[in-house]
Amino acid sequence: MTQTAPWKPQPVPAWFPRSKFGLFIHWGLYALLERGEQSLYREHLTPSAYRTLADRFKPARFDPDAWARTAKAGGMRYALFTTKHHDGFCLWDSPGTPFNAARTGLNRDYVRDYVRAFRRAGIKVGLYFSTADWSIPAYFEGPARNPAGFRDFIRTTHEQVRELCTQYGKIDLFWFDGVWPHSAADWRAKELVSMIRALQPGIIINDRVGLPGDITTPEQGFPEQQFKPSTPWECCMTSTEKWWGWHRGVAWKSDRAVIRTLSQITELGGNLVFNVGPKPDGSFPAEFTRLMKNVGGWLDKNGEAIYGVSQTLCDTTTFGLMTCKPGRVFLHVLYWPGAELHLAGLKNKVRAARFLVSGKPIPFRQESEGHLHLSGLPGRPPDPRNTVIELTVTGTPQSYDWARDRIWTGALDKTRERARAIAARRADWSRT
Ligand code: GLC
Repeated sequence: MTQTAPWKPQPVPAWFPRSKFGLFIHWGLYALLERGEQSLYREHLTPSAYRTLADRFKPARFDPDAWARTAKAGGMRYALFTTKHHDGFCLWDSPGTPFNAARTGLNRDYVRDYVRAFRRAGIKVGLYFSTADWSIPAYFEGPARNPAGFRDFIRTTHEQVRELCTQYGKIDLFWFDGVWPHSAADWRAKELVSMIRALQPGIIINDRVGLPGDITTPEQGFPEQQFKPSTPWECCMTSTEKWWGWHRGVAWKSDRAVIRTLSQITELGGNLVFNVGPKPDGSFPAEFTRLMKNVGGWLDKNGEAIYGVSQTLCDTTTFGLMTCKPGRVFLHVLYWPGAELHLAGLKNKVRAARFLVSGKPIPFRQESEGHLHLSGLPGRPPDPRNTVIELTVTGTPQSYDWARDRIWTGALDKTRERARAIAARRADWSRT
């Protein structure tokens, strides 16, 4: 067996694609300013003034068990925590810098507290780490202008990653950010990634250190079906309009938007890691906790159609989305069609159709060539956020060839089956 180089992408463990929904936590000194996570740079604050925040960082309501409870209530199966964001403030006791939470403020190692609490709650643990570091002049000067300083900076960066991978037990996901403006070679990224894999076998590493990752991480949006990544992927998204760190006066996404986004991403085979910026006192904003209660309430009843499913079979749904499991197809009805619903392209014999939540059976008729008609549906959707209909089918769900590709992929004549479909249509056209 050939061993791939450890810096190259590795297959992800099964928990990742099964989990679907994760929590991203952006928290650090910037929370005190209440203007997102990037005020230091964007507002051109002086580094010395920013540093004084470290002694004011005394979060009286920091309770990582409460964080984990909210994540659980929201149906989230893994989490990511900003151990160090671009401002350079370490939330653990990193010997390489006094600009860390264990040597200022309450002298606490928040990374340890987070890891312990989330593990206890049975949630997979991920660490976010920004290589970009606005507290270090050499980061800005770069290797050409300050070779010795940059070398030191890179050494410290590697040490920090080593600390994070050795002091907290098993870590499930290491999430780099902030590769810009330097290259993978500047970061010595191959060494860095190889070191992480040696210290944490089975860990997942993302794609933001200048190398292809085990997962790709589109941000704030996700691609259409035909452009979705071929690697495992995870979309990260804010729960408010823009910022990741806590910001006053922001508008929140609705449970309807989150449920639909999660369902869409699931249909495309990805995960959603959904962000919260805790307040300066360490508590989650009440709006976020409420939001997670509502999303989690939906997931409690509809989780069958999300966790552990495989992605859609075909691109023929006009009512919403589709996810699958062996013997079952879930129709996520986002745009309620009224009394009747038509699905084209499913090959399997349908044995039963019912509302997933109430279990109420739905009358149906299945025609040849994969046309399924459901009837007797109520005029209004039972759940306007996403009503799931479960089909019980024989065998593993499969679709007809012609249903798989979008018409504009231009491959209509590639297979016999498609040729037959075209021929049948031709006959039909000539009748009119
Ligand atoms: C962007 C932002 C950064 C945030 C990250 C999360 O890169 O600049 O602040 O941490 O997105 O993916």
